[in-house]
Amino acid sequence: MSQIIIAPSVLASDFSRLADETMAVDRAGADWIHLDVMDGHFVPNITFGPVVVEKLRPCTKKVFDCHLMIEPADPFLEEFAKAGADIITVHAEACKHLDRSLQVIRNLGKKAGVALNPSTSETVLEYVMDRLDLVVVMSVNPGFGGQAFIPAVIDKVARVKAMIGDRPIDIQVDGGVDPKTAPLVAAAGANSLVAGSAVFRGGNEEGYRKNIADIRAAAEGAIG
Ligand code: DX5
Ligand code: ZN
Repeated sequence: MSQIIIAPSVLASDFSRLADETMAVDRAGADWIHLDVMDGHFVPNITFGPVVVEKLRPCTKKVFDCHLMIEPADPFLEEFAKAGADIITVHAEACKHLDRSLQVIRNLGKKAGVALNPSTSETVLEYVMDRLDLVVVMSVNPGFGGQAFIPAVIDKVARVKAMIGDRPIDIQVDGGVDPKTAPLVAAAGANSLVAGSAVFRGGNEEGYRKNIADIRAAAEGAIG
C-alpha cells in the first residue's frame, strides 16, 4: 500500500472526453479523482457543477475528491453529496460559518475538507480540527491549472502537520505538484498530492501511468 495518495485533477484533462480521461487515470494508478469546481466568483474561472460529478460517478470506484472553489458553498453541499462526492472540500475564505459548513458535510455522511489559499494562515484551522478529515494547502492561487508552485507553502504544510498531531487528518497539497516539488511537500508532511498538468501531459494512458508513478516515487523517496 502506497503511503502517498495521488489525486489527478481532471481540470487538466480533455473536457470533451471527460469520462474517458477519468477512466484512463483510474486505470493508470490514480488513488483519488480530484474534481475542481469553480464558480467564476470566488475564483476567476468556471468549470462544472454537481450534474457533471453525478454523470462521472459510474465511471470509476475511486474516491471523488471534490474541491469546491465556490462562494457561498453551503447551498450546494447536499447536491454534491448526492452526486457522489466522497470528500467535499470548502475554502476557509468562502465560508462565513466554516464550523457549520463542516458539520453539514459530515452530517451528509461525507468527509470534510478545508482548503487554504496561499495567503491564508493555518490558524483558521485551530477551532475546527475535530470536524476535519482533510486539509488542502493550496500551493497556487486557485482558479487555473499549470501555475508555478509557491515555495512558502512548504513551511505551512509542516505547521499544519504539527497542529494535526495524531488526529486522522490527511494533508493535501494542490497546485504545481510534479516530481520536483512532490518530495518537498511530502517531506514536510503532505500525504495527498493533487496533480493536474503533471499527470495529464502526454495525453494518453501510458503517459498518465508514468507521470503518476514518477510523482509517487519522488514523494515516497522523500519520506523513506
Ligand atoms: C487550481 C486547482 C488545482 C489544479 C492543479 O485552482 O485547484 O487542482 O487543477 O493543477 P496543476 O497541477 O496543473 O497546478
Ligand atoms: Zn483543486
